[in-house]
Amino acid sequence: MRLCDLKRIVAEAQRAFSNATDPVTLENEKARFLGKTGKLTEFLKNLGKEPEPEVRKSEGARINVAKQQVKVALNMRRQELADDLMNQRLADDAVDVTLPGRCSGTGSLHPVMQTWERVEQIFHSIGFDIADGPEIETDWYNFTALNSPENHPARSMQDTFYLDAKDTQGRALLLRTHTSPMQVRYARMKKPPIKGIAPGRTYRVDNDSTHSPMFNQVEGLWIDKNISFADLKGVYTDFLKKFFERSDILVRFRPSYFPFTEPSAEIDMRFEHGRNAGRWLEISGSGQVHPNVLHNIGLDPHRYIGFAFGSGLERLTMLRYGVDDLRTFFENDLRFLRQFI
Ligand code: DAH
Repeated sequence: MRLCDLKRIVAEAQRAFSNATDPVTLENEKARFLGKTGKLTEFLKNLGKEPEPEVRKSEGARINVAKQQVKVALNMRRQELADDLMNQRLADDAVDVTLPGRCSGTGSLHPVMQTWERVEQIFHSIGFDIADGPEIETDWYNFTALNSPENHPARSMQDTFYLDAKDTQGRALLLRTHTSPMQVRYARMKKPPIKGIAPGRTYRVDNDSTHSPMFNQVEGLWIDKNISFADLKGVYTDFLKKFFERSDILVRFRPSYFPFTEPSAEIDMRFEHGRNAGRWLEISGSGQVHPNVLHNIGLDPHRYIGFAFGSGLERLTMLRYGVDDLRTFFENDLRFLRQFI
């Protein structure tokens, strides 16, 4: 084995590598020199037959230097081919590597949740507590305590999701159809004056452009010795003006029926100027708390009197922003939601 042989092999390998124009050819060429039966490997194998230890040592060192040189050439070519491939891909996809990267955006509150917070803030500022209650209710709280005894036709005013279960006292369980059960649940924990709101999720078997099976309501309740419809009108009108941030709002009470209030009224509102001006818009159910409900709260109907109201949070949001299809709130399309950030 001669020095010039090794030099020739290194030069041959360098040439072969730089002639390889793709990684597969390059790896095949590598095998020709460094593989199990490759040229340099053969040299090393033959070295074992050399009888002189000194010669074995010096020849071994020379072969290893040559091997090293071949490896360096191989790795350089590997890198070149990888760079070529990357450049080719960048050119093909026309990627502009100077564009800013994608970063994860900051979230924000859903428009209906913004309304929820707004409503809490406004009522809190005029002395109302904020209460929270269960979404899975007994039919007692959802209907019976609210003056809709079993078989009362008013029960079918709302299509109810019943659960196939009962509570420990054998009462049927359901998804609450309104936040009104909070009138009784909340008031029972308090002593008059009872003054609070209870926002929350509610459920009905309903689905179209103005109804969703899940929607949000806020219940309001104020009971004391002398709370009248005039107080309701004052509080609710004040709320609407703060909520819509405008003072050109007219409010009217339209006689209606709810089992848990007597008398009952729909609250309608009207803007004097701008969009929707002059049109009465239904905004909330309301009424004077029925004596039977006061009784179920544990209060003497001869001593206490007050009002309740129940308003839809989606409805308030739709009117505030001029959204006309309720379903957009539940589709969670970011192009829609981003408008409310
Ligand atoms: N719970 C009624 C509903 O969901 C709304 C309502 C009406 C609530 C009158 C009240 C009220 O508190 O007084 O349709």
